[in-house]
Amino acid sequence: MLSALSLSALALALLSPSSPAAARGLDARQDHDHEHRAARQLPGSWYHPDDHPVHALFKRASADTDGVAYPTVGSTEWYNAYPTEWATPTKYPAEWIAALNKTIAAGLIPNVPVSKVNTGGADGSGVPTYPSGYDPNSPSVCSATYQCVIPGDIWNAPDGYVALSFDDGPTTASPGLSSFLAANNQTATHFMIGSNLLDYPNEFLAAFNAGDDIACHTWSHPYMTTLTNEQVVAELGWTVQLIHNSTGGRLPRFWRPPYGDSDMRTRAIAKEVFGLTTVVWNQDTNDWSLTDSPPGTSLSAINKSMTAWLTNATKTPGLIILEHELSNDSVQAFKNAYPIMKSNKWGVVSLAALMGNGSAYLNAATSSSEVDAVGDIVNAPNATVPSSSSASPAASNTAQNGRASSSPSTTASSTTNAAADLVRRPSAGLALMLCLCGLVFGL
Ligand SMILES: *[C@@H]1O[C@H](CO)[C@@H](O)[C@H](O)[C@H]1NC(C)=O
Ligand SMILES: *[C@@H]1O[C@H](CO)[C@@H](O)[C@H](O)[C@H]1NC(C)=O
Ligand SMILES: *[C@@H]1O[C@H](CO)[C@@H](O)[C@H](O)[C@H]1NC(C)=O
Ligand SMILES: *[C@@H]1O[C@H](CO)[C@@H](O)[C@H](O)[C@H]1NC(C)=O
Ligand SMILES: *[C@@H]1O[C@H](CO)[C@@H](O)[C@H](O)[C@H]1NC(C)=O
Ligand SMILES: *[C@@H]1O[C@H](CO)[C@@H](O)[C@H](O)[C@H]1NC(C)=O
Ligand SMILES: *[C@@H]1O[C@H](CO)[C@@H](O)[C@H](O)[C@H]1NC(C)=O
Ligand SMILES: *[C@@H]1O[C@H](CO)[C@@H](O)[C@H](O)[C@H]1NC(C)=O
Ligand SMILES: [Zn+2]
Repeated sequence: MLSALSLSALALALLSPSSPAAARGLDARQDHDHEHRAARQLPGSWYHPDDHPVHALFKRASADTDGVAYPTVGSTEWYNAYPTEWATPTKYPAEWIAALNKTIAAGLIPNVPVSKVNTGGADGSGVPTYPSGYDPNSPSVCSATYQCVIPGDIWNAPDGYVALSFDDGPTTASPGLSSFLAANNQTATHFMIGSNLLDYPNEFLAAFNAGDDIACHTWSHPYMTTLTNEQVVAELGWTVQLIHNSTGGRLPRFWRPPYGDSDMRTRAIAKEVFGLTTVVWNQDTNDWSLTDSPPGTSLSAINKSMTAWLTNATKTPGLIILEHELSNDSVQAFKNAYPIMKSNKWGVVSLAALMGNGSAYLNAATSSSEVDAVGDIVNAPNATVPSSSSASPAASNTAQNGRASSSPSTTASSTTNAAADLVRRPSAGLALMLCLCGLVFGL
């Protein structure tokens, strides 16, 4: 399935010091240098001065937190409360494990063995494998890497919609994305990496204060199915905690597994312990590889794919396109495509607002509305969205093409085999190859 080109790209991705993976490794070491980090927190040139009119746009209501006085995002106190970056945290509150134990005792977490991912070999690299007797395509394992998804997962958008999301932020490319979105009165969902959030607090705030939705993309970006239950809890828990304590107490509604790697066990832990819904995608730009050397794709190749998806008159299913805010080029690929989304009359809506029925968070409707205090993040499954903020932009958008709101489950049912627990993402040969490439090399 993997082309020779892909395999050589893999070799480069693994060996080249300029590859994203290697760059992340370097970052991880630099990130222990607090001076380095502090220097990066000095106000950057992307700021508007305080009296700039754009501040009126970004101004947040005063009653938009859960009432707790959290440390200032970006402060030393804030930073020091969290685990080491770019490693699966080994310490976590006993409450999280107690919550995990409770869900296991209740029979809610399928006993799927951890997978192995060989990222060092040419043969099936980056694809999780399970002990014999555990078929990744079976309903009991249902690995998303093998195109298996279940009702409740999100991979399609409602017909006629582009559900906007960006992975791997915040980075120094994020402010360019935030200002483009704000200039277009557009919000989007950011699947953020906890470790990046610690490093780029101002870039995070630019997105959050502009009204964008924040979602979880794990602490250190591992293949989640290779982790033990406790490690899965740590990767999700610390990211949710950091988002919660940096957004006035909001709990993300969605997570996206790095490389799309999830199975029945990791999905269930996300859902049952933290109330998180798993989101994958139905089209992949490979934009993360634009800045590889040699590049894995090009702006013109992405333009071609985007044009095909966006000018398809059926608009069925709606699009969840995997895009990244990793580089200015990947942001540029989106900027190029955005006018085509609009001119082809797609509803362009933040993924979290659209797929969360208007609520990007479990305990708040938006990044600037009222928050229902939950105290401990393991109370997420019981969180409620304050009713006073239930009037949602997504709800009105959803009516705009004359269709009733198409929820994730109704979207799913169009491709669900009614008799089966699992559904298969539509996988044309090309789509499958892109998906595997994305999973092998993608961020
Ligand atoms: C997050 O905020 C809660 C209060 O909601 C506080 O108890 C907790 O210590 C904070 N956690 C971190 C890691 O700062
Ligand atoms: C969770 O379960 C494990 C294994 O059964 C046990 O060792 C641990 O003490 C439990 N932890 C909590 C906090 O309940
Ligand atoms: C911005 O978008 C919101 C929600 O989609 C809409 O209600 C509002 O009218 C728009 N504002 C402008 C200036 O276009
Ligand atoms: C339009 O999208 C549908 C659904 O994904 C697909 O079956 C069809 O082949 C596409 N048409 C073109 C011209 O790409
Ligand atoms: C993106 O562009 C900005 C402004 O030119 C620059 O400061 C930043 O380093 C770039 N980010 C990346 C990830 O290339
Ligand atoms: C593709 O590039 C052409 C030429 O620059 C441009 O007109 C068009 O809007 C682009 N389309 C997309 C989807 O990026
Ligand atoms: C949105 O609402 C539908 C229909 O009530 C429901 O099935 C679905 O689970 C909701 N989505 C989320 C993310 O809560
Ligand atoms: C949620 O509420 C239910 C019933 O009210 C309770 O049994 C459960 O323990 C609560 N879960 C959490 C995580 O607080
Ligand atoms: Zn990622």
